[in-house]
Amino acid sequence: MPWDEIKPRQFAAFEKELDGISRQTMEDHYKLYEGYCKKVNECRKILNEFDYGEIEGNQVYSPLRAVAVDYTFALLGYKNHDLYFGHLGGEGGEPNGRFAELVDQEFNGVDKWFDSLRKSAKAARGWVMVGYDLNDGSVFNYIMDTQNLWAVYNMVPVLALDVYEHAYARDYGATPDGRGQYVEAFLRNVNWDHVNRQLAQAEAAKQGADSVGREPTPAGQ
Ligand SMILES: [Fe+2]
Repeated sequence: MPWDEIKPRQFAAFEKELDGISRQTMEDHYKLYEGYCKKVNECRKILNEFDYGEIEGNQVYSPLRAVAVDYTFALLGYKNHDLYFGHLGGEGGEPNGRFAELVDQEFNGVDKWFDSLRKSAKAARGWVMVGYDLNDGSVFNYIMDTQNLWAVYNMVPVLALDVYEHAYARDYGATPDGRGQYVEAFLRNVNWDHVNRQLAQAEAAKQGADSVGREPTPAGQ
C-alpha cells in the first residue's frame, strides 16, 4: 500500500480527568503530537519528491540525510505518542491478563517488572518502551533517549512511558522527584486492556511469522 498522509487521532484520555496529569499538560502535549504529525507528512513528501538520480548523498551533510533523519524523529514522535495517549484514561493499578502473565515470567514477578520500569524511567532521557520481541517472544523495558534512539527491530511497543520533561514539568516540576511523582501518576491512569490488546496483536503477528515456511501438516496429525 503506497504511503499516504497521516492525521492526528482522537483519544479517550482527553474525554476525562486524569488522576495527577492535568488537562493543560495533556492539551499542550497533544499540540506537540500534532506538530510531529505535520512534520511526518512534510518530511515524507520531500523524501518522495527528491530526484534520487541527481541528489547528493553525503554523510556529513546533505538535504537527503537531514530530512531522512528528522523523518524518523517525527514519525516515532507520532507513533510513540499515539500509544501513550491511547493507553491513558484507564484505572491503572496492577497489570492484568496476558501482559501480567508475561512480565511475571520474564522479570520473576510483576513487582520486579515495576521496579525495573521505575528505574528505567529514571535512567531514560525520553521514553521507556515496554516491547514484545517478535523473534523470541520476550518482553523488555527499553530505554530510549529520544523517540528514534535505541529501539530495536522487531520490537513491538505495548506500553509507552513518556519521560520527557514536557510530560510532567507543569504538574510536578522538572526534577528527578517530579519525574518520579509523574511516573506514579502515569501508572494510576494506564488502561491495561489497551496494553493487552497491543500485546495480543504482537503475539498474533509472531504466530503468523513463525508459521511461514513451515511444511503443511498432513491431515489428522
Ligand atoms: Fe511527549
